[in-house]
Amino acid sequence: MVTQKVHELLNQQINKEFYSAYLYLDFSNYFKAQGLDGFANWYLIQAQEERDHAMLFYTYLQNENMPVALDAIAKPDKTFTCHMDVLKAGLEHEIYVTSLINYIYAAAFDVKDFRTMKFLYWFVKEQGEEETNANDLISKMELFGSDPKSLYMLNQELAARIYTAPSLVL
Ligand code: FEO
Repeated sequence: MVTQKVHELLNQQINKEFYSAYLYLDFSNYFKAQGLDGFANWYLIQAQEERDHAMLFYTYLQNENMPVALDAIAKPDKTFTCHMDVLKAGLEHEIYVTSLINYIYAAAFDVKDFRTMKFLYWFVKEQGEEETNANDLISKMELFGSDPKSLYMLNQELAARIYTAPSLVL
């Protein structure tokens, strides 16, 4: 049985994940306008993944016969003065999302909600990957971002990212 507190947190996470998708769509839009289609592609796929995350929370609650209440999605309000600003905002956001997942996990742990813990475990691992990916992008930009040819190559690399559906199936 999912408690009211855990239910509320899971429901809120639907909105947080859709916001993440919206945020990364905004990042993609920034890079598209800058002529960096590879970076734009990378964040577009990131946005797709976030939408998948939202749908996993949505489906989990439905499978548990818990009501889903959809809320308004906030407007992405970050402004950027350089490419690195975007990448750093991405890492900062993923660290924030990790804290949210950990908080829900802890709430489920407190009430011995083992099924929710099992569901969330995938996200615990996923957040590790998300933070690593965001850190890697920053490292690459630090190394190659100031040289136009290297930035071109990095852009090509990111253009090759393809969407894969999440490995968690509910
Ligand atoms: Fe859904 Fe990037 O965490």
